[in-house]
Amino acid sequence: MTDSSAPLPGLFIAFEGGDGAGKSTQAALLTQALSDAGRTVVRTREPGGTPVGEKLRSLVLEHGQGEIDAKTEALIFAAARAAHAVQVISPAIARGEIVISDRYADSSIAYQGAGRGLGTEAILQLNDWATSGLWPDLTVLLDVTPADGRERRTAGDAAEDRMESEPDDFHATIRTAFLALAAAHPERYLVLPARDAIAELAQAIEQQVHTLLAAPGNGTERSSTPQGVGSA
Ligand code: TYD
Repeated sequence: MTDSSAPLPGLFIAFEGGDGAGKSTQAALLTQALSDAGRTVVRTREPGGTPVGEKLRSLVLEHGQGEIDAKTEALIFAAARAAHAVQVISPAIARGEIVISDRYADSSIAYQGAGRGLGTEAILQLNDWATSGLWPDLTVLLDVTPADGRERRTAGDAAEDRMESEPDDFHATIRTAFLALAAAHPERYLVLPARDAIAELAQAIEQQVHTLLAAPGNGTERSSTPQGVGSA
């Protein structure tokens, strides 16, 4: 039993995966389940989540902004994330709330570090600095194949943004990078096949979150040192 006078531990959950993995659907379902259980949930997304972050989002995702080279792209994502971490995520965790973010720093490691070839370690260090070492307690990776991802995101009339319209081999590199991150950090990763039924995925994610919430001291001792990409 929880002592009702004790402050609830804050928790930071990130959803990651390739484009079209179904992250937003699962983030919404988890938000609903935790809210129904009486928790205060802050649902947010990257790039974005703050006024400056939403402007940076348009800059980096919309077509027709002029040339954006790889380093500039990495710095824009990191700038948006710095604002997000300090203005939204850290304060919410400190208030004992649960933050659910659609993407976080591992997206930069996968897309800019691996996909754009800037190097996963360099992007990890950049983001560790930008966020003052704020990393999620749980990262849910919805693993999607490039073909499935493209099929799902182009269903209906949805137009692809600048990143989504990259070729399948780019998305294959992203997928490999995410799986490598999950293998390097099994303590904070839950990897699920994006093809599984929506309800099945939601149940697995909820179960993991409840386990985490029940663990003594969870959400109170967070990592503040860089997490190596290639080492467990
Ligand atoms: P979004 O519309 O949020 O896509 P999704 O619904 O798949 O999350 O667009 C985010 C795009 O930006 C997506 O293609 C991944 C890319 N991205 C990066 O390249 N680096 C990053 O650090 C982040 C957060 C996103």
